[in-house]
Order: sequence, then structure tokens, then C-alpha cells
Amino acid sequence: MKICLLASIATLGVLLSPTTAATQTGDAAAGKDVFRKCMACHRIGPDAKNAVGPVMNDVIGRQAGTIPGFGYSELNQSAGKAGLVWTEELIFDYLADPSAFLKKFLTEKGQADKATGATRMVFKLADETDRRNVIAYIKQFSPEAKK
Ligand code: HEC
Repeated sequence: MKICLLASIATLGVLLSPTTAATQTGDAAAGKDVFRKCMACHRIGPDAKNAVGPVMNDVIGRQAGTIPGFGYSELNQSAGKAGLVWTEELIFDYLADPSAFLKKFLTEKGQADKATGATRMVFKLADETDRRNVIAYIKQFSPEAKK
């Protein structure tokens, strides 16, 4: 009985895995509301400038840690140098726990020595629908992502 229950939980886990969820398209209009939370630190749009966090224009399709004029943490820069290029799916995973995501990425690239410290992006977004929607919103300001 116990084993059967564990098996069903495992199956459910597969069905609800972040990768599966990220492939569903979000609602950009709803994402605009979610982005209010990001606006504590990020700006987006034609007149946007770097603030506490880097500007969110042109992020999807870009190497991590390379928005011009922003002073990134070592961890964020290292992940970019190790080959992290933001896709919708990767941002989906990142938003759930930014520091953990960057450390995992570096470790998987064989650079566990650089997987130290923390990102200054201290914000986490747990809700999957919110994550999908906010990414759909950000995508509108990432011309590379639309190609
Ligand atoms: C408390 C401030 C804060 C909030 C709120 C915040 N961020 Fe950030 N974010 C940052 C900072 C600071 C960085 C740069 C991190 C570093 O250098 O380690 C960052 C980095 C990022 C990056 C990586 C950028 C790059 O060029 O590699 C993405 C993507 C991102 N944030 C998305 C979001 C989204 C989407 C939200 C809202 C759901 C959000 N952030 C909310 C502060 C914040």
C-alpha cells in the first residue's frame, strides 16, 4: 500500500515537473501584474534603467550577467561565463530559487568551485502560474526570444 502511494506521488511529480509546466505558455497580461513584485528591483520597457537589479529588456536569449552597466555578483557572472544563456524554461526554474539554480548550473558544468556565495537576487517566486505569466510578459521585451 505504502509503495503504491509512493509510486503515485512519483508519477504526479513527473507530471508536475517544472519543465513540463514551463512549456505551457503564460498569459502576458496577467504577467504584467506579477511583474509589479519584480519592480521592487527591476525596470522594463523603452525608458527602463538598471536599478537594484538589472533592466529586464532583452534578457531572454542573452548570456546571464551581461546587461550593460549592471554590477553583478560573482555567482551570476560565473554562471554566464560557464554558458548560461537565459531561455524561458531556464528562467522558470531560476525564479523558484535563484541562488540554488545558479549553483546547480555551475556544478553541472563541472565548476563546483565557483558555486559559492549567493546571488543578490534574493526574491523567490514559488507559484508556477505566476512564473509562467511573468515570463510571457518579459518575453515581449526580449526581441531575440520572438525569433
Ligand atoms: C529584491 C530585489 C529583486 C526582486 C524583487 C527581483 N529581482 Fe531579479 N534580480 C535582482 C538582482 C539584484 C539581480 C542581479 C543578481 C546578481 O548580480 O547576483 C537580479 C537578477 C535577475 C535575473 C538575471 C539577470 C541576468 O542578466 O542574468 C533575472 C532573469 C531576474 N532577476 C528576474 C526577476 C523577476 C522576473 C522578478 C520578479 C518575479 C525578479 N527578478 C525580482 C533583484 C531582484
